[in-house]
Amino acid sequence: MLSEPPAGKPENFHLVNDPLSRHKLAVLRDERTPTPEFRQAMKELALILVAAATNRMPTREVSINTPLVPTEVESISAPVCLVPVLRAGLGMLDGALALLPKATVGFMGLQRDEETAQPVEYYVNLPKNISEYFVVILDPMLATGGSLSATLDKLKEEGATWMSCIHAVAAGPGVERVCAEHPDVHFYSAALDPELDGNAFIVPGLGDAGDRLYGTL
Ligand code: PRP
Repeated sequence: MLSEPPAGKPENFHLVNDPLSRHKLAVLRDERTPTPEFRQAMKELALILVAAATNRMPTREVSINTPLVPTEVESISAPVCLVPVLRAGLGMLDGALALLPKATVGFMGLQRDEETAQPVEYYVNLPKNISEYFVVILDPMLATGGSLSATLDKLKEEGATWMSCIHAVAAGPGVERVCAEHPDVHFYSAALDPELDGNAFIVPGLGDAGDRLYGTL
């Protein structure tokens, strides 16, 4: 699985660019993909992306016994908190939980105002001791970066320090913004699209992820 910064992109942006994630992305981008298949592909892509996002998680040595002998093994050194950005981020939650079943789940409710493209917060529910967790933020779309930057500001305000984010598609302008505003956070995306249209939609993108996940087209 490749998760390197593409040429000319910030060091904290990682393109997850293996054949399987490209295949899942092809299903998501296709306008003919119906909601059940779209939802399934998003879940499967989230599983791949969350594996990439655990790359930098510190581990600690633990002494255990195999059925034969005592030995040292490695274990992720802090609990994980998954934070889907409502509502489209929920489409990545089951995939992420398949790989991290013991994770705590926090919620960030944000919606882009359709006129201004600015994020509006409507629901926040995070664990109180968020500073003790490795936090992975789930949001299929990184467009202008406004929603994600507001999410990261909020999480930092609450005490989070170790954070990574996963996205199905990220747009160049949003990547530049969040990487500059949050150089301490790492971003993993299955695609880096070049631009936004006049409505701040990612082009070529995959449309409105929330609407396609939940059939509200
Ligand atoms: C979408 C998407 C991101 C945000 C990206 O959510 O899931 O959260 O827009 O845009 P930005 O980078 O310009 O902030 P939306 O506001 O459409 O809400 P939804 O998930 O409820 O559909």
